[in-house]
Amino acid sequence: MARALEPEFVGRTYDDFLFRPQRGVVTSRRAVSLRSRLSRGIDLELPIAAANMDSVTGARMAKAMALEGGIGFVHRGMTIEAQVHAVRQVKRSHGHVVERPLSLPCDATLREAREFTRQHHITGILIEQTRGSGLLAGLLSNRDLPWTEGREDRRVDEFMTPVERLVTGSPGISLEEAERLLFQHRIEKLPLVDGDRRICGLITKQDVILSRRRPHSSKDAKGRLLVGAAIGARGDFLERAAGLLEAGADVLVVDIAHGHSDVMRSAVEAFRARFGAAQLVCGNVGTAEGAAFLEEIGADGIKVGIGPGRGCRTRLETAAGVPQLQAIREAWSAVGESVPIIADGGIKDDKDVFLALVCGASCVMLGSMLAGTDEAPGHVIQDPGTREKRKIYRGMTSPQAVLEALYDAESPDVAELALEVPPEGQEVQIPYKGPVLDLLQRIRGHLRSAVSYGGADTLADLRARVITDPLRYLIPLSEASRRESYDR
Ligand code: XMP
Repeated sequence: MARALEPEFVGRTYDDFLFRPQRGVVTSRRAVSLRSRLSRGIDLELPIAAANMDSVTGARMAKAMALEGGIGFVHRGMTIEAQVHAVRQVKRSHGHVVERPLSLPCDATLREAREFTRQHHITGILIEQTRGSGLLAGLLSNRDLPWTEGREDRRVDEFMTPVERLVTGSPGISLEEAERLLFQHRIEKLPLVDGDRRICGLITKQDVILSRRRPHSSKDAKGRLLVGAAIGARGDFLERAAGLLEAGADVLVVDIAHGHSDVMRSAVEAFRARFGAAQLVCGNVGTAEGAAFLEEIGADGIKVGIGPGRGCRTRLETAAGVPQLQAIREAWSAVGESVPIIADGGIKDDKDVFLALVCGASCVMLGSMLAGTDEAPGHVIQDPGTREKRKIYRGMTSPQAVLEALYDAESPDVAELALEVPPEGQEVQIPYKGPVLDLLQRIRGHLRSAVSYGGADTLADLRARVITDPLRYLIPLSEASRRESYDR
């Protein structure tokens, strides 16, 4: 049920409040759970999403985010094929089940097998009866290959372990059972086959170890990393969505500058007609009415933020915008917990993540904070004078990003948009920050501390307590107290 926005939030953003410390109950900050919602169907252990921008999220960033418990949205400033490829890279990178394992037929030669392992960086090959039959005949591991080359025309089935002597699992095997079999038989690879010995997958010891090492990673039911991707609302967006979903994208975002619009309504209707209940985040909006609209048309997540972004000039150029904490609170007042809110843009410090989460958001989206890291696309540049290292960060409608899209004849919707509206984004240089892992671990640590100061031992508990009456916990700042807090 919609509530009225508290007047104290009008015109307010992150630097306008401190959080009033509560009696602490946490004994170990490491145990504080930060689990929260990204969308109606997806929870994250670290409620942080990497923005779908070409200077922030490609496959590398998306992988790193998911490994740490967050998620990345691959940007759409590229061809459908390239974006689909990026999503596939993330989905293939980890996971305890290799869904379509690579294989060679029985009559392949040792030469082919050696070349195959080199080309695909694998240590064992499933051997099928005949090419394309999909019937398991054996397994050829690196250990089965003769050390010395010289008999390279011999068939692989002379060297493989035949299926009769192989330990195999059934397609629906649990991770625990697979782990038990791998250990019991001291083997590295467990092929999965059905009753007809048809190859259904492969579980490797290495993948199981990796997935145990990172229990907080964001994964789908098959143990593959979660990944999101942007599709826009016009042009080829449905074709793009089809390719991305087919590649395994777990959530898509219709990301348009003005999400409270007829363009958004038609896009969501067309999407639902074709893809049913696939997870769909929509944005951006900055008002209660905008959030209610996205809830009504069936968004699974509402992205909030009009103009707070570091690479964004919307407010300067058009006067349109809503201070970000007000926008988050308005959105929550309108939709409550029915649809998760993603606070997008304007987050400069770790404390902003916390304030966004306790005032209404379930997750935050970061652009500039992640842009200087190794995993963000683009090169490190060094200032010739100061020797300071930096990376480029740019708004997706900055003249530079638009120019690139215009040269890319296969991004017609971006190009069309670029010709329609003058730039509302800009390019800036961001200090180089090293691996994103370090940054995410720092944010996670600060969020846990913030929960502890808040008097709870999980983010969910604290959020539930604060969200209905945040003004009991927030202290508005004067100019002097802001200086005392932040000037260092
Ligand atoms: P931060 O502050 O995290 O913001 O860098 C990231 C968000 O900024 C938005 N964005 C833009 N907004 N013009 C805009 O008005 C642009 O060119 C632009 N590019 C990105 C976007 O919502 C992103 O997630």
